[in-house]
Amino acid sequence: MLPAATTARANANLALVKYWGKRDARLNLPASGSISLTLEGLAVEARVAFDGGEADRFEIDGAPAEGDEAERLRHFLDVVRMEAGQRQRASVATRSTVPRGIGLASSAAAFAALALAGSRAAGLRLEPPALSALARRGSGSAARSIFGGFVEWHRGERPDGHDSIAEVLASPEHWDLRVVAAVTTRAPKPVSSRAGMARAAASPLYPAWVAGAEADLAEARAAVRARDLEALGLIAESSALKMHAVGLAARPPLLYWNGATVECMHAVWALRAAGTPAFVTIDAGPQVKVLCEPADAPRVAEVLAAVPGVERVLTTRPGLGAEVIA
Ligand code: PMV
Repeated sequence: MLPAATTARANANLALVKYWGKRDARLNLPASGSISLTLEGLAVEARVAFDGGEADRFEIDGAPAEGDEAERLRHFLDVVRMEAGQRQRASVATRSTVPRGIGLASSAAAFAALALAGSRAAGLRLEPPALSALARRGSGSAARSIFGGFVEWHRGERPDGHDSIAEVLASPEHWDLRVVAAVTTRAPKPVSSRAGMARAAASPLYPAWVAGAEADLAEARAAVRARDLEALGLIAESSALKMHAVGLAARPPLLYWNGATVECMHAVWALRAAGTPAFVTIDAGPQVKVLCEPADAPRVAEVLAAVPGVERVLTTRPGLGAEVIA
């Protein structure tokens, strides 16, 4: 008898040193390590029960999942079944507090929650490193959302990926930062991170991107430990802009930004020039996330909200890792 349904919750995370490129696409093994901050309140809850039946059933935010989305979830359940050595079909329901498909990393939260709920429901009790490796199979960045606070995901060397797991650099309490996110469109992103990474790998700038990763990671690690916002902000901004530069130089070019994305960057840089330490990062979409001190977050939010084209601004802080909630 398998355990009854299990529900787990995980938060999204924001990469400060980006994961952008794979050394193995099937296992989601990254070409380089990355460092992130897990964010409070941008959560996905996943309920999994291996309750038999003819086929897996998926529900996302109350609606049945279809097409590629269902296929991706089915594939992930196959990985869980393989690990657990069983064949039962499952029913899965996820509920998100992250607006989906708008570049606020909902897939990281979803697959971290699914890894925890799915493995428990299948009768496994995995330690956090093994959970991180499992979550990675669903979405690379999900490896980091298993943990709270400041997290490093290691590239690893092994072909089987067993050493490509995330670990905590510092807890959420270590450093009370704010991340202010400006949503510049609610449209789903036209190029997924998977497709974007594949295109980036053919860019003439890709080798330089990969070669620079170790130095960026060392700088970010030291900045986190020292709680040095200027140092962390500058490396996070640089890592994000380098990641986007790789895409710009690809053929065909890859540009995730819209006009408001660029205006947000200028607004933050103007604020910084006037004395407020605030730093920009952007993922595989047009949203802008800004790293700043808690006391400056209201001002940063105000400046971003005033940029034409910004639809919504939300402020978050360091959050916890994945947990079982029912
Ligand atoms: O985990 P994926 O396949 O959704 O890729 C995430 C890629 C970025 O968000 C752009 C960078 C990162 O490190 O999270």
